[in-house]
Amino acid sequence: MKNAPSDLGIMGMGVMGRSLALNLACKGVKVSVVSTRPKEVADFSVDPRVLGLPLTYAKQTKDFVASLKRPRKIWLMVVAGDVTDKVLADLLPRLSKGDVVLDGGNSHFQDTARREALASKRGIDFLGCGVSGGEEGALNGPSLMAGGKRQAWKLFEPLLRSAAAKDMDGQPCTAWLGLGPAGHYVKMVHNGIEYALMQALAEVWQVMDQGFGLKPDQAAAVFESWKDSDLDSYLLDITARVLRHRDVGGGFLIEKVMDRAAQKGTGSWAAREALTLGVPVPSLVSAVEMRSLSGYYEERQRSNSQHVVLKGLSRLVAQRLLFPQLRAWMELSQIAAFSQGMHLLHAASEEHGLRLRLKEVLRVWSGGCIIRSRLLQRLNGLYTENSAPANPLFVPAFFKLTFMQVKDVEQAAASLASSGLPLPTLRASLDYVLSLASPRLPTSLVQAQRDCFGAHTFERLDKKGALHALW
Ligand code: 6PG
Repeated sequence: MKNAPSDLGIMGMGVMGRSLALNLACKGVKVSVVSTRPKEVADFSVDPRVLGLPLTYAKQTKDFVASLKRPRKIWLMVVAGDVTDKVLADLLPRLSKGDVVLDGGNSHFQDTARREALASKRGIDFLGCGVSGGEEGALNGPSLMAGGKRQAWKLFEPLLRSAAAKDMDGQPCTAWLGLGPAGHYVKMVHNGIEYALMQALAEVWQVMDQGFGLKPDQAAAVFESWKDSDLDSYLLDITARVLRHRDVGGGFLIEKVMDRAAQKGTGSWAAREALTLGVPVPSLVSAVEMRSLSGYYEERQRSNSQHVVLKGLSRLVAQRLLFPQLRAWMELSQIAAFSQGMHLLHAASEEHGLRLRLKEVLRVWSGGCIIRSRLLQRLNGLYTENSAPANPLFVPAFFKLTFMQVKDVEQAAASLASSGLPLPTLRASLDYVLSLASPRLPTSLVQAQRDCFGAHTFERLDKKGALHALW
């Protein structure tokens, strides 16, 4: 242990904790590190990259806490869930009034609210902060979505600003986004959008692969050619990169990857929250469901219906002209995913008293994070600091522009209708936009059915009031 007090303490020396420590120490921030697994700290202390950096390696929480400048600023980068609770139980009694703890894990927002209350009983401030960008982001500049008490954010702000990625104006991709668990709520929705975008890109690739018979590198070239539009994004880039990647033994690695996708839960939290608040997010929900469905690997092998896909295939090979329509479908799906996420945030801001700064959310997402995309600039233009649409697609001019794509998308959907290819997220996104464009939905019949069997009443278009009919 060195004696000079550190500006910041990082607890948790997994890949994210180590990368953040390096990121900040390289910028001259004095950082103390500790882990519940002392080996992680020992390994980090001999990492060649730490040479000459202002880092202090603590073996125990006691020494770690003693090594920090007051008020102490502690960044937790530990596994979300029980581990976070255990670490806090050990840490909080050692801290003093005015110290601030920031949780950078993918914690559930309700856990964050509970932990904030727990810490505040001891006069300690607690910030929940979504960290996005993976290892590379943590090292070179993540997107940092913070929430909690504003004065606690003020203390942490210089550190977060120095760690974060930069937006297109050179401003750090971090901000105080709202009260209480706002930061983790925003990160949860970020991940819901992440799921939808990944699944939509995967479905588009499926059409190119199984439908058009393109080789992975040919599909990559098509994705790359879409970079001249709002589709230009981190996920588009890595999709092309992944498709081009060669296996050590030859061929493309993607062809050997098992089609069973895992999940840690944040996407399904977003979907569940949306269902609870009554916000329609069909693109997000379908993407979560496809992760679950992909897990039924053996069952899918048993009920293999390749013949259906193959029948479609020969027809589709002749339809390479479908590319512009496919691109329009991806654009529409991207807009649907972001719009659904922003709608959920708008509703949650009120419902949970988060006072979310939605324009700032879009700015903070524009660099460093997994869902960064050129589209965010256009969405940002629909928001001001003081007024936000409930949903970007509720802005008539934006909806009109989006709807101009629908003809192309419908053509693609029609051409692929009998291909045997499941496209749940692409189709959910199209149906979402079509539903929003429908002045009259068949839900009139649903309401009438409710009244018929349960006397739940209905409203008439031509009269006010709740009515009941003897159907
Ligand atoms: C990010 C990511 C990250 C997330 C992984 C895995 O923004 O950097 O969202 O935080 O943990 O993407 O998520 P799943 O295991 O749920 O796919």
